[in-house]
Amino acid sequence: MKKLIGILLGIMVLVFSFGCSKKEDLTTLEKIKQKGELVIGTSASYPPYEFHKEVDGKDQIVGFDIDIAKELAKDLGVKLTIKDMKFDGLIAALTTNKIDIIIAGMTPTEERKQTVDFSDVYYTATQSIVIHKDDIGKFKSLDDLKNSKIGVQKGTIQEQIAKEITNEEDIKGLAKAADVVLQLKSKKIDALIFETPVAKAYASNNDELVFTNLKINSEDNGSAIAINLNNDDLKEVLNESLKNLKSEGKIYEFVANYSIEGE
Ligand code: ARG
Repeated sequence: MKKLIGILLGIMVLVFSFGCSKKEDLTTLEKIKQKGELVIGTSASYPPYEFHKEVDGKDQIVGFDIDIAKELAKDLGVKLTIKDMKFDGLIAALTTNKIDIIIAGMTPTEERKQTVDFSDVYYTATQSIVIHKDDIGKFKSLDDLKNSKIGVQKGTIQEQIAKEITNEEDIKGLAKAADVVLQLKSKKIDALIFETPVAKAYASNNDELVFTNLKINSEDNGSAIAINLNNDDLKEVLNESLKNLKSEGKIYEFVANYSIEGE
């Protein structure tokens, strides 16, 4: 009898601990649903993707990435929480589970794929260069930028692109895109590189800056949502939402909404 009780107790302990450990093994998707919240990480000085704007007297983060995030949260049936941070801190925030996903115009590069996974690409842009208006006519080709100072956002693909144009010591990497813009306005750098819609937005909002038509060859141009590795259920759900948004023409609608503001 004692033996039987012992065995029964043993089984109960086993079942109980299995139940507990299972809870901790919830996938990110299950956790998002359980807490009723989708926490996105972004870096909001990248118009029209994401940027700060005063709406009804209140500072808010808006942009087409944010509109996409709202749709994703809606499809998941949860509320959306936005965490704004430095671009080069986003991947660490994701892998340490401080955020559930990254939506920040992030390009799914092979290097990043070593540490995180990506959804399908939801938007593709080219790369462009902005210069100071006092330098109009000075840079007729990328070669003319060979020894000049180029500003980029730290940890971005533009940092790599700049290395192909100028010397490594002439590249100025800053945490926020808005700070790169300030550097150009005060002529501490000669040029900056952003995705074309962002370059256009900043150039049209700043009289001292001009958008150039210098062509940059870059293979990595798309934006995708970053998620932690081994989260195929989440990836599937996100891709389904993105697919629907694309087929309804919603993504271009969102992009157009914010691009008009900057032009
Ligand atoms: N697409 C570039 C990259 O992935 C730049 C993205 C910058 N995004 C931002 N929200 N500041 O490296």
